[in-house]
Amino acid sequence: MQLQGSTVLLTGASGGIGRATARALNARGAKLLLSARREDVLEEIRAELGGRPDVLAVDLSDRAGPATLAERAGAVDVLVANAALSAGGRAERFSAEEIDAALDVNLRAPIQLTRALLPGMLERGRGHLLYVSSLSGKVASPRGGLYSATKFGLRGYASGLRQDVEPRGVGVSVIYPGFISQAGMFADSGARLPPWVGTRTPQQVAEAVVSAIEKERAEVDVAPLSLRAGSMLAALAPVTLGRIQRRLGSEGVAESIAQGQRPKR
Ligand SMILES: NC(=O)c1ccc[n+]([C@@H]2O[C@H](COP(=O)([O-])OP(=O)(O)OC[C@H]3O[C@@H](n4cnc5c(N)ncnc54)[C@H](OP(=O)(O)O)[C@@H]3O)[C@@H](O)[C@H]2O)c1
Repeated sequence: MQLQGSTVLLTGASGGIGRATARALNARGAKLLLSARREDVLEEIRAELGGRPDVLAVDLSDRAGPATLAERAGAVDVLVANAALSAGGRAERFSAEEIDAALDVNLRAPIQLTRALLPGMLERGRGHLLYVSSLSGKVASPRGGLYSATKFGLRGYASGLRQDVEPRGVGVSVIYPGFISQAGMFADSGARLPPWVGTRTPQQVAEAVVSAIEKERAEVDVAPLSLRAGSMLAALAPVTLGRIQRRLGSEGVAESIAQGQRPKR
């Protein structure tokens, strides 16, 4: 998939990873449609990118949000489904509305956007669907059950979808960032990691997004080897990995991330 001249719809464009991804896609010559709720932030990014992108402010937690966004976007060659809520905390401390918002923004919206945009891609025999999951979509942590439910869900959806649509000319990628420094939901939480846990930057996630689209890569981790190895062990022995995580102090880290992210529920 060539990004130059392709129309790319990017959700979550006003966030830490979204902004870096908008810059990277713009630099490849994509015609960008930037979406999120905060129109003022989207306008600021549009101005930074020389006024080239279009801005579509839509709330994806609304029932009609994804369909409205797809309709306003028109013909889209590439979907980058990046918007999400951090949704960390103990299960009994979420309101029913907070649970719905996390499921709607993180999982329902990407699936509904796909449903709306895919027929056009199939008709043109050309398109790409990219979902920003998380290493939490491969390994769950304390306080992370709801977030992981949405991020594991994206992986499952994309894995099945890929087999249906790739033979018909539409690529499917999933990106799995670990802890991202500098900007975005983890950095904004103010939580501190133990010194042995490495991070990656929003720019590295953005580069992974560009390369996954251009090189049709199915799955890309953006995390240090230690975290990637942990996610592999989680697939083989989730209970053992959970015990190891807790011995290494994951409860304290997870609690401080959840506290720091509370305003973003
Ligand atoms: N940062 C990390 O360490 C990390 C690690 C792994 C995975 N990820 C994933 O990377 C992606 C980007 O995260 P980030 O770190 O950039 O987070 P972020 O800075 O909190 O940005 C989240 C984005 O989602 C949008 N959003 C939230 N609720 C929305 C709603 N109801 N309707 C429409 N848009 C909504 C926000 O825009 P508005 O507030 O303007 O609506 C914002 O643009 C997410 O999928 C996240 O799960 C992040």
